[in-house]
Amino acid sequence: MNPDLERLQPYPFERLRELFADLAPPADRRPIALSVGEPQHAPPAAVCEVLAGSLDRLARYPATRGELALREAVADWLAARHGLPPPDPEREVLPVNGTREALFAIAQACVDRSRGALVATPNPFYQIYEGAAFLAGAEVRFMDLTAERGFLPAPDDLAPEDWERCQLLYLCTPGNPSGAVLSREQLAAFVERALAHDVVLVSDECYSELYADEDAPPPGLLDACHLAGNPGYRNCLSFHSLSKRSNLPGLRSGFVAGDAALIEAFTRYRTYHGCAMPPHHQLASIAAWRDEDHVRDNRERYRGKFRAVLELLGEPLGLSLPPAGFYLWPETPIDDREFARRLYDEEGVTVLPGRYLGRDAGAGNPGAGRVRMALVAELEDCIEAATRIRSLLGRLAC
Ligand SMILES: Cc1ncc(COP(=O)(O)O)c(C=O)c1O
Repeated sequence: MNPDLERLQPYPFERLRELFADLAPPADRRPIALSVGEPQHAPPAAVCEVLAGSLDRLARYPATRGELALREAVADWLAARHGLPPPDPEREVLPVNGTREALFAIAQACVDRSRGALVATPNPFYQIYEGAAFLAGAEVRFMDLTAERGFLPAPDDLAPEDWERCQLLYLCTPGNPSGAVLSREQLAAFVERALAHDVVLVSDECYSELYADEDAPPPGLLDACHLAGNPGYRNCLSFHSLSKRSNLPGLRSGFVAGDAALIEAFTRYRTYHGCAMPPHHQLASIAAWRDEDHVRDNRERYRGKFRAVLELLGEPLGLSLPPAGFYLWPETPIDDREFARRLYDEEGVTVLPGRYLGRDAGAGNPGAGRVRMALVAELEDCIEAATRIRSLLGRLAC
């Protein structure tokens, strides 16, 4: 077996199952899960129709690079959304089967394991970054995200010798779990440092379309490249997905855009890996990227849930509205695991202990003492969950 498999950590949800193994939530109350970041809103009907109407396409093998029409839809979307000159759909855009597989695969394609490879990631982080680094034969360096610094990483989080060795650096903006957004200037500072040290920047922007202020959409790595004087996106890749934007996690559809040379190498890797997007998913994806109405509606629904939940939990948990994403990331009055256990056992509500999303890289686990709550359930369930959380907080305060 590949010995690097042994380096993979148990996934947070495996840990959660273990944590709850001896508990029995109240039988008379419906269980409510705020633990998994899986969108629950209905997918756009028009996209489903295209999907169902294009099943005849199953008779053909899809190309790794995807249909030009999909790459054009993505390039047009990027240009309109980020005010960019349209990226070249032939060289600067590549469809992928959701960001998860692509965030994993990019490390396999880019990392040179013969050079004492180092990969950097925020901490807490989406677990795939670490697993991807391990299976690419790399060591991992963490950039701890703390409340004092707005849960944002900065280039100086890595020591100069780590910048020297680093080959790939993950960013996640808007962040999971905090919803914090890196500004164009902050992203540009990463671009400048990455160019100086020849590091590949991978920006996971899969929450970019779920934002609080309709007039302030989060910037992305490609916008920052223009600010940093890197219009050819050298060393920079931005990762997007329809999963959260369009409530299509089952479609497995996203894209990577940026550095043409990296995209060419990544396409070569993927040709052997064999992960072309199914043809009918490509057509459905075109319909999704070409429509913004359902995305605006989606944002409104999340705003409604944030408003209602923050009314109940804002004050007792010291929470305010995050700029983006669908998570709350509060501090807990007791140990995060114990809080999650009691909430499940006494109230039937599942949240994820923050420590399961982070690592102790020397200064303590920055996820400890917090929990992640995903506001993905229906509004009524989110309100019911928040009410039950308030009950537990009331008992804890006594
Ligand atoms: C930060 C982050 N990146 C990537 C993903 C993967 O999403 P998908 O593969 O559906 O695009 C998720 C999913 O929850 C996530 O939270």
